[in-house]
Formats: sequence, C-alpha cells, structure tokens
Amino acid sequence: MPEPARVQRGLEEVVALESRICFIDGKLGRLIYRGYDIRDLAAKATFEEVAYLLWYGRLPNARELTELRGRLGELRTLPDPLSRMIDTLPADAAPMDVLRTSVSALALYEPAETKAGATAIAGAERLTACLPTILGTFHRRRKGLPRLRARPELSPAAYLLYALLDREASELEERALDVALILHADHELNASTFAARVTASTLSDLYSSVTSAIGALKGPLHGGANERAIELAELIGTPDRAEAIVKEKLARHERIMGFGHRVYKVEDPRATILREWSRKIGEAKGDLHYYEVLERVKEVVQREKGLYPNLDLYSGSVYTPIGIPHDLFTPIFAVSRVSGWTAHILEEYEDLRLIRPTAQYIGPTDLSWVPLGDRT
Ligand code: COA
Repeated sequence: MPEPARVQRGLEEVVALESRICFIDGKLGRLIYRGYDIRDLAAKATFEEVAYLLWYGRLPNARELTELRGRLGELRTLPDPLSRMIDTLPADAAPMDVLRTSVSALALYEPAETKAGATAIAGAERLTACLPTILGTFHRRRKGLPRLRARPELSPAAYLLYALLDREASELEERALDVALILHADHELNASTFAARVTASTLSDLYSSVTSAIGALKGPLHGGANERAIELAELIGTPDRAEAIVKEKLARHERIMGFGHRVYKVEDPRATILREWSRKIGEAKGDLHYYEVLERVKEVVQREKGLYPNLDLYSGSVYTPIGIPHDLFTPIFAVSRVSGWTAHILEEYEDLRLIRPTAQYIGPTDLSWVPLGDRT
C-alpha cells in the first residue's frame, strides 16, 4: 500500500481549477462577479444584465441588453409536451424535484444543445428563460390555476411573480426578487456549481450538467437552508422567544440554518443586502415580524457561536411577505443560479480537464474469496 496521503475532507481549501467568473474574499466579506462588486450590482444592475455579464465576461451595451431581454422572453415558452408532462406530475411533488425532472425532460426537445460539449450560449439562455416557466406552470397546476401565456414583455422576476401570485407584482416586489436573483446568480465553486462542472468535465451536455447541479442544490446544507431558516423564524414567532429557542437548539448541537459558511469568516455580503430588503418589504407590507425575529436570532447565534448569517437566512423573509410559498425558495435559488452554472459549464468546456480526484483507500486488501454456500 502506498504511503497514506493527507485527505482534505469536503475538499476544504482545495484549489481545483482556475476561473474568471467569480471571486469570494472570505476574510473581507467581498463577492465579485467578473470584476464587479456584488454591492454595486445589487444596487444598479438587473438580473438579465448580470446573466449577460456571467456568460460573456462583460456588461452588455443597451442594444445587447434589449436583445437579450427579447430572447429570454421568446425562449420562455416550454415545448407543449413538456407543459403537458408537468400537468401529469403529482400535485404534491416537491417543486425542486419537478424542476430537476423538467430540466432533464427539456433536453429531449433541444437536440442541438444536448450534443456532447455543445458550447453555445443559446442553451444557457434557453435554460435561464425556461426555469421560471417550469416553476410557474407547476405551481399554477397544483393551485388549479389556468396555464399562463409567456408575457415576453415581462422580466424574469416579474414573470415569475405573475405566474406564482396570479397578479401583477408591484415595482418594489419585482425589484426585491430581481435583487435576490442577482445575489444568488453565482458563488464560485459551491457544491452545485462543482457538480455541474464535474458533469461537464466528462464532456457531457449542458442539460445533464444543470440536472446534476439541481440535485446538489436541493440539500439542506446548500440551497435547502433557506426553507429551514424561515421555518425556524415561524417556530419562534415573536422576537422575545428567539433567545430561548435558539439556545435550546444549540444545546442539542443542532445547526441553525442560514448561519456559517465554508468560505466567509465574516458576514456574507449577500446577507447584508438581503437583510435590508427584508426590512423594506416588511415595512411596505406593514409586517416586520420576520425581520425582527431574524434580527434577534442573528444576535443570539453571533454571541453564542460566533457564526455570521449567510444569504439563506434572509431570502425567505423577503419572499414570504410577497406571498411566495416556502417550498419555492430553493427552486427560486435555481432560477437564478442557472445563470452561474451555465457560465461555469461553458468555461469548463473551454479549458476542459476531466475532474477525477482520488480517494485514500482504508479498507482491507487481502481477503480470501468465500464461496456463496460457505458465507454466513
Ligand atoms: N449552526 C450551528 N453550528 C454550526 C453551524 C450552524 N449553522 N455551522 C457550523 N457550525 C459549527 C459546527 O457544528 C462545527 O462545530 P464543532 O467544531 O463544535 O463541531 C463548526 O461550526 C464548524 O462547522 P463545519 O460544518 O465544519 O463548517 P463547514 O465549513 O463545513 O460548514 C456549512 C459550512 C454551511 C455547511 C455550515 O456552516 C452549516 O451547516 N450551516 C447551516 C446550513 C446553511 O446555512 N447552509 C447555507 C450555506 S450558504
């Protein structure tokens, strides 16, 4: 047996590849997409501009942005057999499972884009355009609402809200979701992006790579944390109950979802921005209780464990007052992150190297074969 190697469990601090897409400074709490600070993007950009930036490596000019908006609107319509398939799925299915299965099924209608190693941005645009429609179609079917026309004039955020709420969103609601989509769009080699790149590195196609990513995002240690964070806020109910409930959970060694991060050692800058939106939306709706409960939870967890909030702590407190159901929080994360996943997949194709680490084998090597009849 060779000398045991040093195992980096969870690949912590392993630098697996070079990328020009996203930079996280975990000590200073900075997040950069293609050179631009997330705080500037959240204040000034739209989600479509950010998607363009991630895919093309630069901001679009006015004509390019108008054209991208037009394409995303046009590409929003699902193939009819896929809409019909979504209508046959169990109404109580988890929306994340519906999203994963539908993205996988969409590939069957996109032969050009499912060729091994196809590198066209067209596939990235198609997926980014279709994810809100998939979610909207499923949500409307489970609510018994009629199917929606594509409304190509609406932004992805406005269209998704229109589909989910069955009403026009206010300007503030649309901007809140748009900012949330900007904040979730990319985050370097997080688990789902890594899953996407591993799949792409085998020269598999864009749709298969995004399907892998959705599976990874679903887990509560990754995208699933946002649903758990709002459940905790609802369990706590009022700010005065936060201290006791959080301390009880910590005493039982339970994780408080929405806190801690593998890379950030200070507050996640996305959490700082979303906290402000949680307050703004709470004020507009005349109900600040989620914001106030989470403020107390933050104080207690920071004091007791020295852990800072990540963006999953606040997304639900922005979405819930708007009327978005909890089980759509993680799928909305995917609606945004698909822009980053596809940027990374395209980058992987440009500088392809099969991702295939090794394991330190710690099992036996010299067992003698036992015939079936002799085994206990
Ligand atoms: N609540 C309570 N304790 C936590 C915690 C949390 N949210 N996050 C980390 N810790 C504790 C661990 O229990 C561990 O304590 P120990 O050393 O006494 O065992 C210590 O902090 C280190 O945790 P570890 O899991 O090794 O850190 P990591 O870098 O692997 O964890 C996360 C990163 C994100 C998986 C982790 O912080 C977590 O589970 N957070 C909750 C889920 C979440 O919000 N995910 C979204 C991330 S954007």
